[in-house]
Amino acid sequence: MGVNKLKLAVLISGRGSNLKALMDACADETFPASIALVLSNRADADGLKYALAGELPTVVVNHKDFPDRLSFDMAVHAEIVKSGADLVVLAGFMRILTPEFVNLWPGRMINIHPSLLPDYKGLDTHARALADGKSEAGCTVHYVVPEMDSGPIIVQKRVKVLPGDTPETLGERVLEQEHAAYPEAVRIVARSLLK
Ligand code: GRF
Repeated sequence: MGVNKLKLAVLISGRGSNLKALMDACADETFPASIALVLSNRADADGLKYALAGELPTVVVNHKDFPDRLSFDMAVHAEIVKSGADLVVLAGFMRILTPEFVNLWPGRMINIHPSLLPDYKGLDTHARALADGKSEAGCTVHYVVPEMDSGPIIVQKRVKVLPGDTPETLGERVLEQEHAAYPEAVRIVARSLLK
């Protein structure tokens, strides 16, 4: 009997290394999820190359084609519904989401953020952590709620700040942890949603 899998819609805007990490996790037949859709708001997002190489269904919904955030979000929503996905996975999706959209996926939309939330919501997280002299940095996977970079935490991973760290060197070590954190979080969410 096949394993019952959660279907993911992964939303990206750029590099797509977290998408790649999820694709690698899905290659393990015991992983409780598969990717039903990769959606990008940019046709030139590098991450789309991983999706194409892995023969995953992809769609581009360009925010510039819509008069406002809500109509863009509703077009994204329609694509996710069409794909049959059960869980929306934001992986470097660089759009502010309307509460109307977020509220259509209660407990069914997750995000990864490169800081130890609730510290450093928003951008430039590593530079801000270094400027504050923090001894630790990290990443957080959390459920999405209307307020940005908030919502219940699913997984958090920490790295030590090293002497001489720059935002780039620190960011690279955090990114490695992101690639472990996202599959781990999907396993946890699958455990509750597949019951
Ligand atoms: C990651 O650092 C993630 O935490 C943030 O955006 C970045 C996306 O990177 N939300 P990638 O596109 O997955 O490589």
